Amino acid sequence: MLYATPRGAGRFRFDAEVAVVFQDMIERSVPGYASLIHGIAVLGGKYAQAGATCYDLGCSLGTAARALSARMGPEHPVLAIDSSPDMIARCPRFPDSSVQYRCADIREVALDAADVVVLNLTLQFLPPGDRLPLLQRIAGALRPGGALILTEKIRFDKAAEILVQKRYENFKRAQGYSELEISQKRTALEQVLVRDSLPTHRERLATAGFDSVTVWFQCLHFTSMLAIRRNAKAA
Ligand SMILES: C[S@@+](CC[C@H](N)C(=O)[O-])C[C@H]1O[C@@H](n2cnc3c(N)ncnc32)[C@H](O)[C@@H]1O
Repeated sequence: MLYATPRGAGRFRFDAEVAVVFQDMIERSVPGYASLIHGIAVLGGKYAQAGATCYDLGCSLGTAARALSARMGPEHPVLAIDSSPDMIARCPRFPDSSVQYRCADIREVALDAADVVVLNLTLQFLPPGDRLPLLQRIAGALRPGGALILTEKIRFDKAAEILVQKRYENFKRAQGYSELEISQKRTALEQVLVRDSLPTHRERLATAGFDSVTVWFQCLHFTSMLAIRRNAKAA
C-alpha cells in the first residue's frame, strides 16, 4: 500500500519501505511473474554444466536465485547480488541452500566464470550508458555455451505503447491497485526505470558478444530473452 496515499514527487528507491512489501508488489505488478521465475529456473537448469557457478544480478529478495538453486541442486553455487542492503537483509536464508547473498553494485562486482547469469528486471534500472559495459563483462564471464536470461520491461513504438499501457493499467486495477497508486508509482518509476525497445536490446546483446537471442516469455511489456554465448572470448 506504499502509493495508496498522496506522496511527494520522490524517485522510486529499493529501500527498507519497498523491501517490506516487495514480494507482494512485484507479484501484483509484473503479469506472469510466477511463470517467469519458473521459466528462469527451467531454462537456467538446461545451461548449467557440472559445478557451474550461476549469478542472479539485482536479485532483490532472491526469488530467481532460490528457484534456480532448487532446480539445479546444491552442487551449483548461485551468487545472488543486489546493491540494496534492505533487500539483501530480507532474503530468506535456508540452511542447506547453495544460494549466497551479497550486497554489491553489479557494475563493479568481479564476475567469475559462469554458466548462467540472470538479470531479471534489473538492467532497466542502470543508467543507459552502464548497460553495454555490464553485458560485455557478463559475456566475457560466461563459459562457451553459457546463457544470460535477461528480462526487461520494454518500450514499444507509440501506437503499440498506448495499446499495451491500457492493458497494463487494467491488469493493475484487477490486482486491486487504485488509480492513485497506479499513477503515483508510474511517476516515481519513470525517473529511474528507463526502458529500451526490443531491437535496442537485440543490437546491444550482439555488440556485447552474444551469438543468439531468443524471446522465450512476453506478457504485455515484460519480455524475457535467452542470450547465448557460444564461443569463449579470444585470449
Ligand atoms: C525490479 S528489482 C529485480 C527483481 C528481482 N530480480 C526478482 O526476480 O524478483 C531490481 C533490483 O535491482 C537492484 N539494483 C538496481 N541497480 C543495481 C546495481 N547497480 N547493482 C546491484 N543491484 C541493483 C535493486 O536494488 C532491485 O532490488
